[in-house]
Amino acid sequence: MDRDPQDRKEILGTMRYLTHGVYVLGTRRGRQSNAMTASWVMQTAERPPCVAVAVRGDRYTHDMVLESETFALSILRDDQVDAATHFADTSGEYHDKLQGVPYGLTPGGSPFLLDCLAYLDCRVVDRARAGDHTVIVGEVLASDTMDDSYPLIYDPSEYEEALR
Ligand SMILES: Cc1cc2nc3c(=O)[nH]c(=O)nc-3n(C[C@H](O)[C@H](O)[C@H](O)COP(=O)(O)O)c2cc1C
Repeated sequence: MDRDPQDRKEILGTMRYLTHGVYVLGTRRGRQSNAMTASWVMQTAERPPCVAVAVRGDRYTHDMVLESETFALSILRDDQVDAATHFADTSGEYHDKLQGVPYGLTPGGSPFLLDCLAYLDCRVVDRARAGDHTVIVGEVLASDTMDDSYPLIYDPSEYEEALR
């Protein structure tokens, strides 16, 4: 049965109560590295360990991940709102956001922040179109923990400038 959806803005207002962490999604295509802030991330499996991240089609990172089939998620600490803002403020199409930021390469070759809680190193194993985003599923092939503190929880009021 066809249903008319409720007003989109009302629905999005309700969806703001969904909770998320905050991550930096890093990828490397050929010799070019890029990273963007991502909060629409979830664990999707244990055997093998998998995560999914929703990336909007017009993000520069989008095609880089789908073409390279590799990405890393740096899990931010609860005091790293500045890092989240930095990787959301500009696009890698125009600006090398990793310049001046200490980062390493995972065993899979993706950039991760040396200053963060932990990283997950992923290989793309599936993808699905979901409206204006693509849900990219990654099998986690490696991980490392750099810190033993608390992860950053997404609070939209902290990113009003970046999300405008
Ligand atoms: C807190 C926060 C979370 C974000 N989460 C996502 C996300 O999950 N998916 C997405 O496509 N964009 C997300 N963004 C927007 C991107 O980080 C932003 O558009 C970025 O500039 C894209 O960079 P790129 O063009 O180099 O890929 C988020 C922004 C902020 C501030």
